[in-house]
Amino acid sequence: MRGVILAGGTGSRLLPLTKVTNKHLLPVGQEPMIFHPIKKLLSAGIRDICVVTGTEHMGDVVGLLGSGHEFECDFTYRVQDRAGGIAEALGLARDFARGDKVCVILGDNIFQDELGLFAERFARQGHGARILLKEVEDPHRFGVAEIAGDRLVGIEEKPKLPKSRLAVTGIYFYDDRVFEIVRTCSPSRRGELEITDVNNAYIARGEMGFDALEGWWTDAGTFESLARANELALATQAGKR
Ligand code: DAU
Repeated sequence: MRGVILAGGTGSRLLPLTKVTNKHLLPVGQEPMIFHPIKKLLSAGIRDICVVTGTEHMGDVVGLLGSGHEFECDFTYRVQDRAGGIAEALGLARDFARGDKVCVILGDNIFQDELGLFAERFARQGHGARILLKEVEDPHRFGVAEIAGDRLVGIEEKPKLPKSRLAVTGIYFYDDRVFEIVRTCSPSRRGELEITDVNNAYIARGEMGFDALEGWWTDAGTFESLARANELALATQAGKR
């Protein structure tokens, strides 16, 4: 399986912190934000990693990460010309994926669980997609899963009246057909290709599996969640010392 880290977007909710740098280069705990999802891929044994980011800060991202030599992995870079959405950013990794399965992580997702077990379950699933859910206090900020019995029946992106408290985290496993599905997506009202549309396409085909994260999880795209990500990462790093 290959890994994809999506680190584009504008970071506008964090202005002025993101005026002259990319959100994913901001500190979380003792490291730049983007180190966290990269290390989760590495500890799941994924060594071929594509990093997608925008034109403005690609130079800084490459300057930080380099070839992958220091991480004992191989980085491939893809440029997203404008923030056209998460699904658009993923579509740029098509040639990189070369028909393999991919584990995709949003560059602002910071979490405790290791991914090995979920990757194994996805491998056993054989085909389709698999997402990771987490119960949260503020589901309206996220994609929200609708569960009927033990089945995932749909996902709503940032609903005003969430049907559950289960957020769809930015950690996704896909087979190679994801790139065909991205091609069929149209821009949403906010002008982006939405990852929730991609996930709902797999649900409609009956090919979406899911698991729930056990440990803590947060995004880091707002001042509040960035502060929380720092607290959690620092506490975890202190515990490891
Ligand atoms: O964090 C989980 C949530 O992430 C999910 O629950 C939602 O379903 C999903 O849409 C997404 O919601 P956000 O509103 O938090 O997404 P945001 O626009 O903040 O983008 C998250 C990351 O995706 C960002 O850190 C970098 C990457 N991204 C985003 C856009 C819009 C790109 O690489 N390119 C893009 O054009």
